This record gives sequence, C-alpha cells and structure tokens, in this order.
Amino acid sequence: MSRETWATRFGVILAVAGSAIGLGNFLRFPGQAVLHGGGAFMIAYLTAFLFLGLPIAWAEWTLGRYSGIRGYNSAAGIFRCVTKNRSMAYAGSLVVTLTTVISAFYIFVESWCLAYALRYLFGWMPDSNFDSVFKESAGLQGNGALFQSGFWNFNIFCLLFCLAFNYLLIYRGIVKGIEWFCSFALPCLLICALVMMFRVLTLGNPTGIEGQDLLNGLGFVWNPSQPDKTFLESLSDPETWLAAAGQVFFSLSLGFGVILTYASFARHDDDIALSSLTAAAANGFCEAVIAAMMIIPAAYMFLGPAFFTQENLGSAFTIGFQALPDVFAQMPMGQFFGFLFFFLLFLAAVTSSISTIQPAVTLLEEGLGLGRKASLTVAGTMITFGCFFTAYFTDNLLALATMDFWVCNIFVFLMAGVVIIIFGWVFGTKKGLAELNAGSQLRIPAWFGFVMKYISPLYLLIVFAAWAWLYLSERLVQIAGNSVVQMSLGFILFTALFNLFVTSQALIRWERKEKQQNNDQDGIFFSG
Ligand code: ALA
Repeated sequence: MSRETWATRFGVILAVAGSAIGLGNFLRFPGQAVLHGGGAFMIAYLTAFLFLGLPIAWAEWTLGRYSGIRGYNSAAGIFRCVTKNRSMAYAGSLVVTLTTVISAFYIFVESWCLAYALRYLFGWMPDSNFDSVFKESAGLQGNGALFQSGFWNFNIFCLLFCLAFNYLLIYRGIVKGIEWFCSFALPCLLICALVMMFRVLTLGNPTGIEGQDLLNGLGFVWNPSQPDKTFLESLSDPETWLAAAGQVFFSLSLGFGVILTYASFARHDDDIALSSLTAAAANGFCEAVIAAMMIIPAAYMFLGPAFFTQENLGSAFTIGFQALPDVFAQMPMGQFFGFLFFFLLFLAAVTSSISTIQPAVTLLEEGLGLGRKASLTVAGTMITFGCFFTAYFTDNLLALATMDFWVCNIFVFLMAGVVIIIFGWVFGTKKGLAELNAGSQLRIPAWFGFVMKYISPLYLLIVFAAWAWLYLSERLVQIAGNSVVQMSLGFILFTALFNLFVTSQALIRWERKEKQQNNDQDGIFFSG
C-alpha cells in the first residue's frame, strides 16, 4: 500500500505554519512582550528562537520524515523507529497525550473567537460593558454557567460547531482536509491581519489625547527601556528568558508532537530544512511583526497607558476579549474591524487545533489498525469530553488554566528535551544533519550539530530548572487543595493511560508485522 503524503511541497509548509500560527501569536505574544520589557523581551525571544526553536523544529522534522518513509507516522512509532528501542514508544505515546489535552482547551477558546466574530457580523456586540460579554461567553460567572440557560444556547452552539468543523477536516484526511483548509485559510488570515495592521498604523492619534499616539504605542512594544524597568533590569530578570522560551515553544508548536506527525507525511525528497525555516519565519512574522504592531499600539492609542497593568497583560484573554472590543467600539468602522479580527483569530485557531487532533487519530490508526472514521470517533470522544469538562468548570477558568499550565509548561518542555536528546545523542548529529540536508537547497552546516547536541539541551535544562525553582512548589500546593485541579489532572492521567494502552497494542502489531516480513524474506531467500 502506498503511503499517504502531502500533495505538494508547499502544502506541508502551509500545514506546519498553520499549526504554528494561532492564538499564541495574536493573543499571547503581545502581552508577554510588553510585560517582560518590550525590546529586552525581543532579544530573549530571538535567542530562544535560534538556540531552542530552530534546533528542536529541525530535529522534529528530521525524525518525523525519517520514520514516515519507514512506515511510522505516530509519535510512538517514530520514537521506536529512530531509537530502535521498544520502550521509547511509550514515551512517544505521552506526546500524543499532550496534543489531546491541548485540543480539549484550545477548541473551547476557539469557540469564543467564533462567537465574537458572529456577534460582530450580525451586529450583536454591544457598545460597552465588554467585561460582561466576555464573562458570558466564557462562563466566568461560575461552574456550569454556560449550561444554565439549557444545553442549546449560542455559546454551546459555537463550541459544537468548532468541534464538528475540526473533525470534518480531520475526517477528510491529510490532503483533502488539512492541506486543503490551510491552503486558503492561511492566505485569508494573512490578508485580514495585514488589513488590520494597516488600519492601526494609519490611526495617528485617534482620541486626540496628548501622547496617546501610534509612535508611543509602538514604543511600548519595541523600546528596550520601558517606563517601569530599564533595558538591563529586564534583560537580567530570569522571568524574561523563561517567558520568551515558553512563547517560542507554544508558538512554534514545539514538543507537541505535531511537527513530528506532520513531517512523517513528507516525501523522501521534500526540502525539510528550508520548509521548517519558512514555516518558523512565517510564524515569527505573524507575531513579532504583525501582532506586535497591531494589538498593543491599538490598545495604547484608545485605552491609554493606564490599561497596561500586570494583571491585564498577564492574561491573553483580557487583551483579546475585553480590551480589543473596547478599541473597536471607538474605532471608525469598528463592527467591520471587530469581525475581521475575530474571524482571523478563528481561522488561526482552527489551523492549529486540527494539528493537535491529528496525532491521536494517527496513533489509533497505527496502533489498533482502525480506519479513519473509527479512530476519529475514539479520539473525538475523548477530546469532546475534555472540551465540555473545560467548558463546565469555568470558575476562574480553572480547568483550562490547570491543563494549560501542566501540559504547556511541563510536559511540552520534557518532550522537547526527549526529542532533541534523541536527535543529538541517540540518532547522532552526523546522521541527523545528513538526513536533514537530504533533498534540501539549504545546507545546515556541521557546526550546527554542536548547537543541537550540547547547547539546545543545556538551554532547555536551565530554562526548565529555573522555571521549576520559581513556580513548581506553589502549583503543587494548589493540587492538594482543589478538586477541579485534581479532576483536570485526572483527565490528563486518563488520556495518558489510554495512550499507553494503545501503544502496547501497537507494539504487538508492529512486532508481528516485522516478524512476518522477516519470514517472507527468509522464504524468498530459501526458495530463490
Ligand atoms: N502554536 C499554536 C499557537 O500559537 C498552538 O496558538
């Protein structure tokens, strides 16, 4: 049977860029940049991009394509194939757990974007009081708030629509679903983002208040020294470096197993070194250029510097779902631009969420030998359950925050560590770079092997250790005292155990198939 591959070379770049460009670019990045010193954050961000982002992305692409050619597309199969060690398949199954859990809360946020886009489109967005619109959309009034007016309401409709839309795309497959959707969603979101950016950059000083102009808004994001902190103070703060590394990880979808899975569908002669760089550069452009020039300057010009408190900046949701509607309400043609912005967020979210659903479907197909429909039914049931769990426990968005925290701060770092160590220390940098350079117009020089073998793992270790030292103990205390936190962790644990079980079945199937192939070859040898 011929193996499934992306239809075009450009298709894989669009799919990986689509996975990377998401809510992290447009909602998370601007707040993180301003909170951690603007220009100083950009230096830490660039450093993390060069020494963590690119090496780990290249490692995932290399290991993914290498294993895909050999018939393995799931993270479990890929880890076993490249290490030739059966127990590493279990480590791979944990990667699939990450993506399943991320899908569960990401699609919930995606449904808010859709709800906001529809409110703007149909003129249902009020002119003020955006706090209550957000509270109502996210169910912040308390646990179960979204279901208080019955199951069939606007917010649940949006959630169900998002789930169904994602599943439909996955059901249509790699080429007809993911590649097809990304091939027009990405250009479309880019056009929306450029129109928005152009609008913001031509606003001048819309309120007429002295100092609340575009240049000062841009300075807020890019100036190395900020009013409350000098350049050196921000640069010497470990939190700046942690936040920058976390942003690079989330934004490039590193350690999620998404790139591993997508790259496994690449053809043997695809240019993965250049494709990876192109996808990463497109992602960087969307966040460090477009999002940085659009969101914070707009909020600065209309809401003034008083809006930029620690609390507002720390939450990607406050900026996106409370502050920006306030900006649109004051902007000429605000309804149109409000729609454009939330529609672009929705598209960006879908191209990312399909990438987090695919790894679980692939593992079920490979592990249990199920067809696409059956695999999607099983994976979809778990993700839908996780989504509704997150949508039910909305008091302080605790379920969402717990899953996000444990998965995106701990497991993603651990998994990225496993990937880069496999690349540098098990697969070997020489073989790895040769594999990466095969079919590529861009030659990654041999000295970069040193970065991938020593610098990236060390960088990762330092970032993770610093993070654990600063934050881990307070989180452990939180687990002990809160049942929603415990149930959220229970969901992660259940997903992990399920994936471990599927992997144990996959191992039996793979070993049986390999034995059969060996027997067939012996048969040919003797009969020949
Ligand atoms: N990389 C995706 C994002 O930035 C998850 O939203």
